[in-house]
Amino acid sequence: MSQVYLNGEYLPLNQAKISVLDRGFLFADGVYEVIPAYGGRMLRVQEHLQRLQNSLDAIRLENPLSNQQWLAIFEKILALNPNEGVGEDVSIYLQVTRGVAAVRNHGFPGRINQTVFIMVNAMAPVDKEKLRAGVSAITLDDIRWKACNVKSISLLGNILLRQQAHDNDSAESILINEGLVTEGAASNVFAVINDVLVTAPSGSRLLPGITRDLIVELAREHNIPCEERDFTEAELLSASEIWLTSSTKEILPVVELNGKPVANGKSGPIWDKMIDIYQACKVKLRSGESS
Ligand code: PDD
Repeated sequence: MSQVYLNGEYLPLNQAKISVLDRGFLFADGVYEVIPAYGGRMLRVQEHLQRLQNSLDAIRLENPLSNQQWLAIFEKILALNPNEGVGEDVSIYLQVTRGVAAVRNHGFPGRINQTVFIMVNAMAPVDKEKLRAGVSAITLDDIRWKACNVKSISLLGNILLRQQAHDNDSAESILINEGLVTEGAASNVFAVINDVLVTAPSGSRLLPGITRDLIVELAREHNIPCEERDFTEAELLSASEIWLTSSTKEILPVVELNGKPVANGKSGPIWDKMIDIYQACKVKLRSGESS
């Protein structure tokens, strides 16, 4: 049984309970983070904590813990779940909600304690050859709200969009907002257009993915031409490579879009290079050489 953290206590998952009046349950009034940890070391944890702070600020919720407290809890929860990870890789899921109010009322309640919940989930080890096979995706109209930069637990739009992909035997939906590609239902999107790696610019239309930012950084370090710019659905449809990125999926090639092959229907050479660079980054992290 995995051990979780709930409001200051460490306890077995099946003993962690919250009130039905929690505003997370009633209103999805909260935010979350997913932080990957390789061999017990967290990737880009400071960036995740900064994004958490940005999400909390955006929903006007005070951060209940200092960064030092968050880090201490993460270390402890990793130590309490030594066997959770297959091949030692796990993701830490955390969520903060506005807490349990006495009555259901849309407006903010008076001062109440936020609810803090943290659990650890196993992450399947990344096998390059398995990833290489790639996945299918479809394009869909981005039906979500106008603050997609907030990592809100209110994910109904994302869930419906992801399910529509599954209903079409696809792994992910790539979202289109007024003709422009934003991101996936639970991932960021990269495309190789005229030999340049392109991803949509940060802003309120998409989540500033930590994996996305790392890939942009790595591309620049390794002289892979890379641009953060708006790109259209038409450009996406003619791209020579398309990738989905996230903390749990890493870099997943899309080999079929809307039922048609992407280029020759195989993962491309830039993906091949980037996945090696990314894996090297993880090796460094595991050995304690980087964060
Ligand atoms: N989701 N965009 C959306 C809408 C996402 O939900 C995610 C990740 C990303 C990628 O962000 P990052 O690289 O920081 O993981 C982009 C997580 C993994 C989830 O909801 O489980």
